[in-house]
Amino acid sequence: MDKKLVIAIDGPAASGKSTTAKLVANRLGYLYIDTGAMYRAMGLKAGQLGIPISDSGSIAAMAEATVITQKPGRKGVTTFLDGRDVSREIRTPEASQLASDISTIPAVRRRLVAQQQEMGKDGGVVMEGRDITTVVFPEAEVKVYMEASVEERARRRQAELARKGMPATLAEIEEQIRARDRQDSTRADSPLLRAAGALVIDTTGLTIELQVEMVLEEAFKAGARRE
Ligand code: DC
Repeated sequence: MDKKLVIAIDGPAASGKSTTAKLVANRLGYLYIDTGAMYRAMGLKAGQLGIPISDSGSIAAMAEATVITQKPGRKGVTTFLDGRDVSREIRTPEASQLASDISTIPAVRRRLVAQQQEMGKDGGVVMEGRDITTVVFPEAEVKVYMEASVEERARRRQAELARKGMPATLAEIEEQIRARDRQDSTRADSPLLRAAGALVIDTTGLTIELQVEMVLEEAFKAGARRE
C-alpha cells in the first residue's frame, strides 16, 4: 500500500491543529495547508481597504479579485496576499476576529473552498481548518477533530503571542477565543462541527508527540507509506 492521502483536520482555535498538522505533513512528506491563514488574509485585506464585513456584496467582489497563495519553507508556511507576504500581520488578535467575521460570508467560502479542493485533489496533503472534514474533503481518507479546554487553548495562544512579541492577558485571550468559537460553530454556512467518522482527539493533557502519533497511526491504517 502506498497511497497519497488527504488528511483533514478540523477543530476550534488553538486546539493544536497547526502544530500537529505540520509535523504529520513533515513525517509523511506531504504538503501542509493552513486554510485559516487564507481566511485571515481575506479579512486583513477587507480591513485594510476599509470594507465593512456587513457589506457582503463588496466583500464578495473583493474576494473574487484576491489571490492568496502559500509557500512551504524551512520556517513554516509563508502566506501571500496578492503577492505580498502577510504571514506576520495575519496573526494579530484583530486579524483573528476579522478572519472569523469574513468567514461567515458564503461567497468568500466558495472561493477559498474551490481553491483548497484544487490544492488537495491529488492527495499528499494535510489540510487543517474548520470545514475540511465536512465540506472541503468530506471523503478524506483520514478525518480528525481536535479539541482542548478553553483554558488550555488560551494558555497556548498566550505563549504563542508572547513569542511573537504580542503580549496579552489570559482573560483577554480567553474571551477572544470564546467569541470566535461561538461565531465559528454557529454560523449558517459550514459551521465547525465534528464530522461523522472523524477521530476525536482531546489534546488538553496530551503531548504534541502523542497527538502526532495518533494521527500518523490513522494515516498508516488508511494506507499511507511509512517513511
Ligand atoms: O485556524 P485559524 O484560527 O487561523 O482560523 C481563523 C478563522 O478563519 C477562524 O476563526 C474561522 C475561519 N476559518 C474557517 O471558517 N474555515 C476554515 N477552514 C479555516 C478557518
